[in-house]
Amino acid sequence: MAKSKIAVFASGTGSNYDAIINQINTGTLDCEVALLICDKPEAEVIKKAKINQTPVFTFNPKQYESKALFEKEIVFELKQRDIEWIILAGYMRLIGPTLLSEYESRIVNIHPSLLPAFPGKDAIGQAFEAGVRVTGVTIHFVDEGMDTGEIIDQEAVRVDLDDTRLTLQQKVQKVEHRLYPQTIQKLITNQNRAIERGTKA
Ligand code: GAR
Repeated sequence: MAKSKIAVFASGTGSNYDAIINQINTGTLDCEVALLICDKPEAEVIKKAKINQTPVFTFNPKQYESKALFEKEIVFELKQRDIEWIILAGYMRLIGPTLLSEYESRIVNIHPSLLPAFPGKDAIGQAFEAGVRVTGVTIHFVDEGMDTGEIIDQEAVRVDLDDTRLTLQQKVQKVEHRLYPQTIQKLITNQNRAIERGTKA
């Protein structure tokens, strides 16, 4: 069976993009990152994509009259490359109906908290300020809401009394970098089995 093609959507540093590439290179994740979509032309993740020779589609949302217009261009890029899965990795933008309808149940997001706690921006800072002793990581299917959608997997991270925002971020991201590639592999394996059986994943 041909390798599943995924597109990673990112807006920032790209440590999750890197973790996905590393797991592909070590053979524990069987897919191809065939495209990086980035809404911030200056983002660090673009440099990482260039090093790994991942094709990049960058756009500036401010140059479009509506979300539907830039999402139409994204759909065109995705279809050109036969992308099957959209993997959001720090893409700080809500997905609109144009993309959702084209990739129903094929868009996945990672969020640095145990959803439904602490949705939105700076979830790690929110957890730190709230003084919770447990936070974590959630991977979920994407719908029209902010960090809503069916939960696929979660893992807890303890917040120790001597943690700072930085050490907490490091602990949460360490879990993200292991859990995201693992979960993507499970989704792809399930999809491949369903294709073999002739059913829908
Ligand atoms: C990750 O921690 C991810 O969970 C978070 O952005 C970070 C991106 O880091 N996503 C969200 O907060 C989504 N609401 P990265 O660019 O180093 O992968």
